Amino acid sequence: MRRSAVLLAALGAVFASAKRCQDITVSLSLESRNAKFNLEPLLTDVEVTDFYLRLARQGGNLMEELQDGYHDVKGNYKLATTYCEPDDGPGHVLQIMTHGVGFDRSYWDLPAQRHKYSYVDRAVDDHGYSTLTWDRLGIGASSKAKDTVNELQIALEIEALRALTEMAAVGGKLTRNHAYGRSIVHMGHSFGSAMTYNLVNQYPEISSGIVLTGFSQVPDYMGLFALAGNFSPVRSIPGLRWRYPAGYVGAGSERAVQINFFGPGDFDPEILDYMYKNGQPNTPGEILTVGSGGGVPNQFKGPAMIITGDRDVPFCGGDCMSTIAIKGKAPNLIEHSKPMFPEVSVFNATVVPGAGHGLFLGYSGSGAMGSILDFLDTNV
Ligand SMILES: *[C@@H]1O[C@H](CO)[C@@H](O)[C@H](O)[C@H]1NC(C)=O
Repeated sequence: MRRSAVLLAALGAVFASAKRCQDITVSLSLESRNAKFNLEPLLTDVEVTDFYLRLARQGGNLMEELQDGYHDVKGNYKLATTYCEPDDGPGHVLQIMTHGVGFDRSYWDLPAQRHKYSYVDRAVDDHGYSTLTWDRLGIGASSKAKDTVNELQIALEIEALRALTEMAAVGGKLTRNHAYGRSIVHMGHSFGSAMTYNLVNQYPEISSGIVLTGFSQVPDYMGLFALAGNFSPVRSIPGLRWRYPAGYVGAGSERAVQINFFGPGDFDPEILDYMYKNGQPNTPGEILTVGSGGGVPNQFKGPAMIITGDRDVPFCGGDCMSTIAIKGKAPNLIEHSKPMFPEVSVFNATVVPGAGHGLFLGYSGSGAMGSILDFLDTNV
């Protein structure tokens, strides 16, 4: 009798915290002003490797070298999204999350190990938020790029994020007809953080708070990521070969994913396996434009948090506390962004000890999620 009461209570707790989610694909007309690059699509292993060698050259600026003006891009695109809310109705605030290079929207709600690494579960079930995640334009179940050099670039993807935000603000099928108005915050990881940075700089009123994960404004270590990724054409990667058109490139081995996303000793090899097997590619157009607008001070006025793993390779060179690259001008490489946010109501720079670039993928991820939710609960 007593035992079954305990069991029922436990089951009740499980069901009481079950998020309700829907997958929806929306069609949008988007346009943006893109860079035009003098570059042929990367089709062979040798061409991809040459490209990353040029990109990683110390003191170089491949974007400037290859750019030949601008051109306007316009088209109809499909975006695959997942909206989740607490089971008793819409959350008080909607978090819109944009994943980084190498993954798709499942990064925020990993099904592996019964959602043990799911940020969405924490945000919705424990903190009462709604969440909207999406496969970035060009990735996963969203429309693929026809042109991997001159079409799929950061500017077009920022327009997609702006359009999704506006749909969620007015309420529509994307958010089960709930209008979130100004109760929307944005979080990104890596490339998604670079997009979020630009989104709120171009449209400061669009968001009530931002969290940039796996991010800094110190460009010095991007070359490490470019070389360590062992990038290869999708045609050479068994899991991606038939899922993407030629011209996309992806991580060439499981070790490449480990080096670029996992902190030493901070992870379960099963999660690394999972991330490699479910990895997604990127395009040269994205890689050449990831830094666009990143050196411009931000007009955003709400609360802003940057949170990055101490062992992050691309944004900290494996050590956010070493300040050689910034000549000691800030206590760490994340704090260095403070002057770039002159208008914000709160600026919080957090370095997560032990964590790699894939902030939520390691043992330290749970603590990082806690810091983010604490920041949002306190400041939004
Ligand atoms: C940043 O935010 C976290 C979470 O709210 C908090 O624990 C930490 O003390 C904050 N850091 C600073 C420097 O205010």
